[in-house]
Amino acid sequence: MSGTVEVTLPAVARTAAVTETPLGRLTVPSRAIPERRVSVDPEELARLRDAARGAAANAHAPYSGFAVGAALVMADDPERRVFVGTNVENASYGGTICAERTALTQASSAGFRRLSVLAVSCARALHARLADRSPCGICRQFIAEFATDEPPSLVLIDSGEDGSLGEILDLERLLPYPFRLDR
Ligand code: THU
Repeated sequence: MSGTVEVTLPAVARTAAVTETPLGRLTVPSRAIPERRVSVDPEELARLRDAARGAAANAHAPYSGFAVGAALVMADDPERRVFVGTNVENASYGGTICAERTALTQASSAGFRRLSVLAVSCARALHARLADRSPCGICRQFIAEFATDEPPSLVLIDSGEDGSLGEILDLERLLPYPFRLDR
């Protein structure tokens, strides 16, 4: 198998809702993300998914027993090498770092800044509902730091299912309101 395939990132549309309260207006903001199409290389996705699964075997997770692996390629890396990471837990608990951030820290330390695709695999939750094997909120914000809109950086979530590469999302759909500092 070779070549790329086109993936549709579906539109998201939500109108605003405003509720008047005795102390002022409360607004649920609208959200409008147009549909877009993006090219992916299924071979690279499979390679990243497999690398993420492999990395999970090296997780340092003695406290939770929840091994996670991540593997990514950076768009500004002409060699498109694969960087991997695992969760590295700490006796302080709070010092724990997730697999996604470990992988991105490696890529950033090697000088790359633009994420192309990141795959994540949660060994113990491969067949669980999406929320139980998706990047945590801190990792979403961390991924957003290196995400580009054009082409959209993508996150692939291992579903462990035979015949499936998993779920794929861009950052707009994975993290609707990333915190941003204007530089
Ligand atoms: N973990 C990750 O590595 N990535 C995530 O996105 C979610 C959670 C790790 C952190 C901790 O070591 C274990 O999974 C249980 O939360």
